Amino acid sequence: MRAVQLTALKTESVLLETDAREPVPAATEVRVQVYAAGVTPTELLWYPTSHNKDGSARTGAIPGHEFSGVIAVLGADVKGFSIGDEVFGLNDWFADGATAEYCVSDASGIAPKPATLTHAEAAAVPIGALTAWQGLERARLEAGQGILVHGGSGAVGVFVIQMARLRGAHVITTASGRSLDFVLGLGAERAIDYSAERFEEQVQDLDVVFDCVGGDTLRRSWSVLKPGGRMVTIASNSEAAEDPRIKDAFFIVEPNHQQLVEIGKLLDQGKLRVFVDAEVPLSEAAAAYSRKVESRRGYGKTVIVMPGLQNR
Ligand SMILES: NC(=O)c1ccc[n+]([C@@H]2O[C@H](COP(=O)([O-])OP(=O)(O)OC[C@H]3O[C@@H](n4cnc5c(N)ncnc54)[C@H](OP(=O)(O)O)[C@@H]3O)[C@@H](O)[C@H]2O)c1
Repeated sequence: MRAVQLTALKTESVLLETDAREPVPAATEVRVQVYAAGVTPTELLWYPTSHNKDGSARTGAIPGHEFSGVIAVLGADVKGFSIGDEVFGLNDWFADGATAEYCVSDASGIAPKPATLTHAEAAAVPIGALTAWQGLERARLEAGQGILVHGGSGAVGVFVIQMARLRGAHVITTASGRSLDFVLGLGAERAIDYSAERFEEQVQDLDVVFDCVGGDTLRRSWSVLKPGGRMVTIASNSEAAEDPRIKDAFFIVEPNHQQLVEIGKLLDQGKLRVFVDAEVPLSEAAAAYSRKVESRRGYGKTVIVMPGLQNR
């Protein structure tokens, strides 16, 4: 099958389109014919992309762990799915991803594709929506509470804002000046232009901060929490932090069938919106991971769409 693999050339990582062997599903897994796969550029830097579970070096990883497509092969123990089912999902970070004609996923990481979405739209959902869902669960966000979302216009942030609103919370978000109207349209009550204002001088006594930016933004965020307030950070630069408070606040999104089912319902009911920044063919995967795609709509994910499967 055609696939895109990560090749380490001395110090530089390069994505190359190659021929790879079609993956064989284990008993609890399915093989999915990939129609579309989401692009998370920072994924190339994450630990599982360059390491196996036992800590040994990993080479030739196929990136892109969120996908939408059709089940092509069922493992012997898989229940509840059939060959030909349209599904979307998130597979194991240590397995090969979906920037390829086929990928395998444990059945616990997939769910029926939302019927109202194209495959490209569905492929833009799993990482952002599951990260938002799991982060808000960790933060125990409740109706009436106040939450500050850093990076609200990003691929994860758009879902955090919408889901926090669905929980009945008061949402404040940071975003660049060009994105303020966009994040207000998602349901934020207030948007702070991070390049013009210091958020810690504008807000205080919040129940939750959901940080998608990290670094200095995260460091300046502890002061806006009320006593007992909760911090969640997903930023890639938080992963290796020494500060025990940051270690405690950081988590990595996991596949989850039931959560995907609930997210799919919200999308089909029109209560949640997904944004596709650009759709590109497999041959432009390297450009997509380098953020060099030219014709972008403005918000959300870049999605790789497999040849001949556009508009489906
Ligand atoms: N731990 C996990 O499980 C997990 C899962 C998914 C993603 N991540 C990580 O989470 C981070 C965000 O991911 P993403 O996919 O949402 O990225 P993204 O789509 O690139 O969005 C990042 C957003 O941050 C905004 N931003 C940049 N600097 C900012 C600042 N100082 N204050 C507020 N907003 C700022 C940008 O807005 P403008 O363009 O308007 O400046 C952009 O919309 C990345 O580090 C990614 O690796 C982690």
